[in-house]
Amino acid sequence: MVHAMKIAVVGGTGKEGGGLAIRWARAGHTVILGSRDGDKARARAAELTAAGHGAIEGMDNLEAAQAAEVIVLTVPYSAHQGTLQAIKPAVAGKVLIDVTVPLVPPKVSRVQLPAGRAAALEAQALLGPSTPVTAALHHVSHVHLAEPGAKVNCDVLVVGDDERAKSMTLALVADLGLRGLDAGPLDNAVALESLTPVLIHLNKKYKSAGTGIVFTGIPE
Ligand SMILES: NC(=O)c1ccc[n+]([C@@H]2O[C@H](COP(=O)([O-])OP(=O)(O)OC[C@H]3O[C@@H](n4cnc5c(N)ncnc54)[C@H](OP(=O)(O)O)[C@@H]3O)[C@@H](O)[C@H]2O)c1
Repeated sequence: MVHAMKIAVVGGTGKEGGGLAIRWARAGHTVILGSRDGDKARARAAELTAAGHGAIEGMDNLEAAQAAEVIVLTVPYSAHQGTLQAIKPAVAGKVLIDVTVPLVPPKVSRVQLPAGRAAALEAQALLGPSTPVTAALHHVSHVHLAEPGAKVNCDVLVVGDDERAKSMTLALVADLGLRGLDAGPLDNAVALESLTPVLIHLNKKYKSAGTGIVFTGIPE
């Protein structure tokens, strides 16, 4: 770990955010679960802390974003824009890591590009240049994150236009116990977000749980 950080996981009461929170807290970071309902976040944080996962607090989404150095967004795409609007007053000068996949239920195994081509590009447009957005972790299933001791056989592609923000994101991915790979500019989020429906299709087709991706030929 480079240094212990204060990480807000907005949507951290849910499946993906909850798994990320546990792993980062166990790695020594202070994690704040963000929720639309601060009491819900505090209750979930107390449960996770009591289970021995480390330093986890709970707050409403805006308070969580205010209190943190870096914000991780893990909400359904239908809540993406509204959640970004809610936290926007607190994110200037901070990095936002967008994990959102623009799925459109019920056809979640089909690529359906959003109006802004990618959720992360929409986030960057909404937040403006004072908040560098990166995108990552779209291919890591919560099924694996929920088992904090288990090794996850999945690479993590990280994209972003701000090199410092991308380096920070890669370091945080390493703290999850995963190999992060710099996959280029934020425009490439279109490819990353589009791969998740394919993984969901593979899960259904081959009755697997949490299909991931591993890249070959990259020197260690
Ligand atoms: N699950 C996975 O394996 C996985 C893997 C990669 C990427 N992702 C992406 O990560 C994001 C979260 O996925 P998830 O499976 O963790 O979702 P989830 O458990 O259904 O929801 C996460 C949290 O988002 C908040 N939320 C739900 N509906 C909302 C709404 N209508 N308005 C505002 N907030 C709402 C809730 O928090 P509060 O009620 O506490 O506000 C909820 O706990 C999605 O974009 C998903 O595509 C998921």
